[in-house]
Amino acid sequence: MEIKKVGVVGCGLMGHGIVQVAAQGGCDVVAFEMDEGALAKGIARIEKSLAKLASKNVEKGKMSEDEAQAWVAETRGRIASSTEKASLADCDLVVEAIVENLDAKKGLFSELGGTCKPETIFASNTSSFPIGEMATASGRPERFVGLHFFNPVQLMRLVEVVRTDETDAEVYDAARAFGSACGKTPVSCKDTPGFVVNRLLVPYMVQAIEMLDRGDASKEDIDAAMQFGCGHPMGPLTLTDYVGLDTTLSILEGWTERYPDEPAFSVPASLRSKVAEGKLGRKTGEGYYAWEGDKKS
Ligand SMILES: NC(=O)c1ccc[n+]([C@@H]2O[C@H](COP(=O)([O-])OP(=O)(O)OC[C@H]3O[C@@H](n4cnc5c(N)ncnc54)[C@H](O)[C@@H]3O)[C@@H](O)[C@H]2O)c1
Repeated sequence: MEIKKVGVVGCGLMGHGIVQVAAQGGCDVVAFEMDEGALAKGIARIEKSLAKLASKNVEKGKMSEDEAQAWVAETRGRIASSTEKASLADCDLVVEAIVENLDAKKGLFSELGGTCKPETIFASNTSSFPIGEMATASGRPERFVGLHFFNPVQLMRLVEVVRTDETDAEVYDAARAFGSACGKTPVSCKDTPGFVVNRLLVPYMVQAIEMLDRGDASKEDIDAAMQFGCGHPMGPLTLTDYVGLDTTLSILEGWTERYPDEPAFSVPASLRSKVAEGKLGRKTGEGYYAWEGDKKS
């Protein structure tokens, strides 16, 4: 089972990157959005990113100017765009990257289940919802996987490939092979909360916040400890500000609702109060730090 034609639903932050890496990997891709405006925005992002990558390759001597231009044209030529669901009907794989709302995702998959050919594999890029619930809604749970890419998709080398108990082995292998074709390192994971990365990362951020809330150490020292003691590129509180306090809270709330007895998913008091005050991290200028662009204090 080879994946040659891919549909990507949602061409926002994650979706535009998935469209791009799939096209770079040699697939024909249909970028699908709700309206022409969102589609144009996503495609413009892809074109900017392809041009940047091409000029980097020229700078590094990996390609001549002509080769780079040909590479951009060839990659761009594999990308079609659409606002009609029927254009996804003959795709071998459809990857969903719409807003993180379970009802919206289930509704979409239910509709796609009636639109796409029976062989089409479905995948969700969700960060926090159970893959199994969407698989059931699609009406084809044996042809459903999670494909969890990381931001920025063009640069991050990982994709988590998530299977449920019902995922067909051949479908799973095809999804892993697609991840590799996109230039990523696929890791296999069962349908568990947060898969591998977020299951480790979010409770780690929670522990750092609780340490700060208890007054065990200052935010600067907690961050410096993990940066210089463990070689992390940034400390956990800076990371929380980058991820967004609202996003972190919403992941935790989803988990605590489903797993109320799991202490690792508890919500720190300061996280809840800061979100209520609109202090959502770098994007609003304040979270655990005050931000001016990339400068924090
Ligand atoms: N942002 C991250 O760092 C990150 C990382 C990994 C996974 N994810 C997951 O990826 C998904 C997308 O996140 P994002 O950050 O790209 O969001 P985003 O808001 O940037 O993009 C979502 C896009 O989906 C479109 N959309 C919404 N409903 C649609 C529909 N029914 N049909 C077609 N298009 C629709 C919107 O117009 C928007 O362009 C979410 O499930 C998120 O949890 C996000």
